[in-house]
Amino acid sequence: MSTFLYMADADRGRRWGELFRRDAPALDFRLWPEAGDPAQVHYLATWQQPEQLAERFPNLKLLFSTGAGVDQFDLATLPPSVQLVRMVEPGIVQGMVEYVLHAVLDLHRDRPAYRRLQAEARWQPLQVRTAAQCRVSVLGLGSLGEAVLQALRGLGFDCAGWSRSRRHIDGVQCFAGEAERADFLRRSDILVCLLPLTDATRGLLDSALFDALPRGAGLVHVGRGPQLVSADLLAALDDGRLAEAVLDVTDPEPLPAGDPLWRHPRVQITPHIASVTQPDTAAAVVLDNLRRFEAGLPLVGLVDRSKGY
Ligand code: GLV
Repeated sequence: MSTFLYMADADRGRRWGELFRRDAPALDFRLWPEAGDPAQVHYLATWQQPEQLAERFPNLKLLFSTGAGVDQFDLATLPPSVQLVRMVEPGIVQGMVEYVLHAVLDLHRDRPAYRRLQAEARWQPLQVRTAAQCRVSVLGLGSLGEAVLQALRGLGFDCAGWSRSRRHIDGVQCFAGEAERADFLRRSDILVCLLPLTDATRGLLDSALFDALPRGAGLVHVGRGPQLVSADLLAALDDGRLAEAVLDVTDPEPLPAGDPLWRHPRVQITPHIASVTQPDTAAAVVLDNLRRFEAGLPLVGLVDRSKGY
């Protein structure tokens, strides 16, 4: 019998267990630390890569990240026989769509400015623009980026996306590669970062990138903390190149209490909660992937190790 071992948050793990026992009773679902016979562990769902993975679970076939990102895994030490799968499930997608829509509308409708005006009891209308007059751009066109763009488009925003290789999304101007990055940034009144963390994206949100945006642009960062150079962000906010920043990710996490980002009047911070895997929708996706694996079909969310996502 194959064991499916869940090695993350125990409360959510218990819900995974109920769903697995209901929908896949032939599978031996176990919640860490009760791993049973490690040689039987063919499937592992975890947020962090356990130490000595290959030695501990010699017959592991599939490794599921319990989140959308896989930058916390060390691809170099994963045995070649183990396939790594990202979490691509409706609950995570919905959470990200809600978070980004909220942040983009907040910036677009000048809510940060009105909050500051209210604090001073000042009644001062600002110019009202429609969504069609606001150019929103998303860096990263994976399943999250695409869903976010479709929702923004539904609200009437002027939408564009950028990815390393060419993508096509109805109603969205798609830019690709280094050669088209400057044109993409130039049309970004609000820039949303949804890129995976790789060597190519570490430190990407820096002064040079902020210089390439229209003056007074907004930033919504829901990628990974190390993609942002915080000192460059603070400088760009202080000299007006950027108007506002909404950050759901920081480096490090948790952000230390003394970090100047916390108290900057034009920065809004949330503690990496934009989107969280929902067991009820995730279990069905993982079980479907197990069936695909058994049938030799392509897996949903399979990580391409050469790209790192
Ligand atoms: C959260 O950041 C995730 O990767 O799901």
